[in-house]
Amino acid sequence: MDFFFFFKSLLLLFSFMGCCVGELREVEAVLGKKVTLEHKFPMPDYVVLLWNFNDGSQSGNAVTSSVAGLQVNARFTGRLTLNTTSGFLTLGPLTAADSGDYTVSIVSVRGTQTEEMALRVLQPVSDVTVTANLPEAIEHNSTVVLTCTAKGSFLDFSWFKGAVPFVPDGKRVTLKKEGASSILTFAGVLRTDLAAPVYCQASNKLEKEKSAGFNLTVYYGPDQVTITPPKPAQFINSVANFSLTCSSSSRPAATFTWHHNQQQMDAGGPILTLKVIKDHNFGSQLAEYTCKAKNDKTNREVPSAAVSFAVIDALSSVKISGPTATLIAGDSAANLSCKAAAGAVTTVTWLKDGKPLAAAGRLAFFSNTTSMGINPVQKDDNGEYTCRFMNPINTVEASYKMVVNYGPEPAMVSGENAVEVKDLQVELECSAASVPPANFTWKFNGTMTAVKTSTYLIKMARYKNSGTYTCEAHNAVTGKNSSYTHVLSVKEEGALDEGLSDGAIAGIVIAVLVALGAAIALIVYCRQKVPVESPY
Ligand SMILES: *[C@@H]1O[C@H](CO)[C@@H](O)[C@H](O)[C@H]1NC(C)=O
Ligand SMILES: *[C@@H]1O[C@H](CO)[C@@H](O)[C@H](O)[C@H]1NC(C)=O
Ligand SMILES: *[C@@H]1O[C@H](CO)[C@@H](O)[C@H](O)[C@H]1NC(C)=O
Ligand SMILES: *[C@@H]1O[C@H](CO)[C@@H](O)[C@H](O)[C@H]1NC(C)=O
Ligand SMILES: *[C@@H]1O[C@H](CO)[C@@H](O)[C@H](O)[C@H]1NC(C)=O
Ligand SMILES: *[C@@H]1O[C@H](CO)[C@@H](O)[C@H](O)[C@H]1NC(C)=O
Ligand SMILES: *[C@@H]1O[C@H](CO)[C@@H](O)[C@H](O)[C@H]1NC(C)=O
Ligand SMILES: *[C@@H]1O[C@H](CO)[C@@H](O)[C@H](O)[C@H]1NC(C)=O
Ligand SMILES: *[C@@H]1O[C@H](CO)[C@@H](O)[C@H](O)[C@H]1NC(C)=O
Repeated sequence: MDFFFFFKSLLLLFSFMGCCVGELREVEAVLGKKVTLEHKFPMPDYVVLLWNFNDGSQSGNAVTSSVAGLQVNARFTGRLTLNTTSGFLTLGPLTAADSGDYTVSIVSVRGTQTEEMALRVLQPVSDVTVTANLPEAIEHNSTVVLTCTAKGSFLDFSWFKGAVPFVPDGKRVTLKKEGASSILTFAGVLRTDLAAPVYCQASNKLEKEKSAGFNLTVYYGPDQVTITPPKPAQFINSVANFSLTCSSSSRPAATFTWHHNQQQMDAGGPILTLKVIKDHNFGSQLAEYTCKAKNDKTNREVPSAAVSFAVIDALSSVKISGPTATLIAGDSAANLSCKAAAGAVTTVTWLKDGKPLAAAGRLAFFSNTTSMGINPVQKDDNGEYTCRFMNPINTVEASYKMVVNYGPEPAMVSGENAVEVKDLQVELECSAASVPPANFTWKFNGTMTAVKTSTYLIKMARYKNSGTYTCEAHNAVTGKNSSYTHVLSVKEEGALDEGLSDGAIAGIVIAVLVALGAAIALIVYCRQKVPVESPY
């Protein structure tokens, strides 16, 4: 077949030329699929149309179309069709070996046109897988290396965190390509680095495929450990619903231990209740409490700030006891004593009638001021005594009314010294300070009367009522008496109507003189008065 030989030689020549003419066009196609290689020429009535190939190791004629018909290289049998009208070559299903340079030569009466193109048969992207160098990581400590591998040709890799493209900073997080894999390195991995699933995407010009979401547990913490309440009251009521709570962000969850003045307590868990503190017999003293959070994976232990407080029993039902015997001023001594049923006393205050008492003179405190004594008692000591017990939690108090018997003090009678006969309602009133109030008796001219009240009443005065009235005040409790003698004289009718008293006379004289003076002054003033023209 000289004819074919001629053309083959010709084509060989053309293919050499083709390589030097124009840009080499790349055609990409997927393994197993079909590809149509197209040339860019308007189709002339050709004499011969040839497609040559060169895969780097082998080269030759793929197909030839001429008057003699179609000649297909055995290598392509069954997988190659040539559209003799358009001159386009369709190849497929493609094998990896089909990659190579393809040159079309169209020989017509007007000359020969040649075009070369490169076919790249791409393996589809598959099996995109992310693997890590570690099954789990410790924040800050671990260097996590993620390797993405995939099958396919001409692969590019990109990484996603969740749906967001991942951008390495080039320092702590670096990315590099190694052969057909991509390596993402987190030096000193952070919990946030792998918080969302990481995806690797492998792609070539035709296809892209994402890996399954890759999760890696990054253990971290405990972070800052918080104790609540951060500033508890300095004193906590022992029956209060009080507890300390410790928390910290940690993965896995931290375990907590509690410490009393730096000593570990036999208590765990995030909550330390008052009951546990009391069970340790801590509390009554001001002490420091801290909690420590520990993460078994990261092996870190972090203490909280310290809080300090004391646990105090509230005071309850204070009782006051006082003297049971009768108190006589000047004779008796009195002790008052207070006791609370429960609770610790910090301060004791004593009050009398609401005012604070201080030790002085007859008054003294004993037993750490829970008792007081007055020796001897006096009348001024009568009153209400209060003991007030205080601690930081509460205040309780109790009162005792102290009665000091005294008197009667010197008696006193008030009433007229002289009355007129037939005067109605003459009253003599006797008084003497005394506790208990004094009983009274009256003597007239030294003779005991039947009157036993403080008031001696004469309904209508008679001459025989003149004389001495002695009031006697008695206090059976103190056994003391006091008396006062009042003299009353009964005069004839009108004897006490002395007309105007000296004072009244003096008053009238002064009034007359003042009136006279005023009259004289008025006259003088009027005489001196000269009419003056008004300036208005
Ligand atoms: C060959 O190409 C021509 C022109 O592009 C087109 O009209 C025709 O349908 C093609 N034939 C086949 C079998 O594809
Ligand atoms: C990764 O985590 C996500 C969400 O937590 C979960 O849906 C997915 O199944 C996990 N994947 C693996 C491989 O553990
Ligand atoms: C104690 O307080 C907590 C929280 O304030 C509450 O949930 C709990 O019921 C309280 N317990 C008692 C016995 O009052
Ligand atoms: C993490 O690193 C610190 C400091 O390098 C080290 O003390 C600690 O033991 C490490 N933790 C773990 C769990 O390896
Ligand atoms: C009062 O108490 C003091 C001190 O305890 C005691 O010496 C005194 O005898 C007591 N007096 C009375 C009257 O109880
Ligand atoms: C006396 O009271 C104080 C505080 O008020 C207390 O510290 C002290 O222990 C008490 N002493 C006695 C003997 O009760
Ligand atoms: C009482 O005594 C006064 C003077 O001592 C005397 O004047 C008067 O008569 C006496 N009255 C009686 C009722 O004895
Ligand atoms: C007053 O008299 C009554 C009756 O005799 C007696 O019970 C009482 O103690 C007396 N009071 C005084 C203060 O003496
Ligand atoms: C006080 O008076 C009463 C009743 O008159 C009498 O019994 C008593 O002896 C008197 N006491 C004194 C100290 O005088």
